[in-house]
Amino acid sequence: MIRASNVVYSYLKYGRTGEEPVSVRALDHVDLEIERGSFISIIGHNGSGKSTLAKHFNGLLFPKEGTVWIDDLPTDGKGNLAQIRQKVCMVFQNPDNQIIGATVEEDIAFGLENMQVPTEQMQERIDRSLEAVGLTEKRNENPGCLSGGQKQKTAIAGAVAVSPQCLVLDEATAMLDPRARREVIRVARKLNEEEGITVILITHFMDEIIHSHRIFVMDHGVVVQSGTPKEIFADPGLLEQYHLELPPVTKLAFGLRQKGLPLELPVLEPEELLKQLLRIRKGGGAC
Ligand SMILES: Nc1ncnc2c1ncn2[C@@H]1O[C@H](COP(=O)(O)OP(=O)(O)OP(=O)(O)O)[C@@H](O)[C@H]1O
Ligand SMILES: [Mg+2]
Repeated sequence: MIRASNVVYSYLKYGRTGEEPVSVRALDHVDLEIERGSFISIIGHNGSGKSTLAKHFNGLLFPKEGTVWIDDLPTDGKGNLAQIRQKVCMVFQNPDNQIIGATVEEDIAFGLENMQVPTEQMQERIDRSLEAVGLTEKRNENPGCLSGGQKQKTAIAGAVAVSPQCLVLDEATAMLDPRARREVIRVARKLNEEEGITVILITHFMDEIIHSHRIFVMDHGVVVQSGTPKEIFADPGLLEQYHLELPPVTKLAFGLRQKGLPLELPVLEPEELLKQLLRIRKGGGAC
């Protein structure tokens, strides 16, 4: 559904007045494919190119070289933009920059008005998207008075109302407390599993990506690894090399194994670790 072929992107960085701008390469020959209906994650240290890549998926940026296709539409800025932006919606880090309506419902309606959705369809779409993110009861409230997590869910509802094929969450949980982070991820998983929306999650929180179908690791504008969570988290050295950490439970399990516990690695979830520890105890192991 989304395909990037040999994509190169550079920014012009301006220094002091009078100095020539320098070109900063943010994407360096990126190739990837994201299947429709999948939940994928993109990880990488600060400045590795994650947001630049994501912005190519809905035509906020266009490749300097190579091509990005959304289905069979190339994002070359030549007239496909409205279609592409309807197919791929983005939610960013700061909810306060994304919300404009006086009520939650009005905020969601804004995107639909922009798309010229007929008025008779609007209410149904608003109702559906509010339900999908669990905000039906907040529909008449001022979004400015909601919690950070509820604001992000409002932003997600606004995107969902547009009926996108794909939702890109670019560090959408970065400003939230742990509980709100979990809630937003739960909503993203539900949209993927129940509505079939492709989710592209960009995050620095490794525990958020353990349920992804596929993870892409970026470093210096290059996709350096891709695989399932079990594949990516099987080798702590690999992530370290790219200045990334294992999820806390995975790290703990590696530590316990080093101390001699016969755990099957990698372990991704607390329940999985508990199950293995109980099995070892039952079998008369070290635990
Ligand atoms: N508007 C810009 N002008 C100049 N350089 C930029 C601009 N935006 C990004 N860059 C540079 O492009 C590279 C990739 O940045 P990008 O924001 O895509 O990284 P990222 O992986 O999303 O980082 P983070 O985890 O901090 O969000 C970095 O070197 C960054 O400094
Ligand atoms: Mg970023």
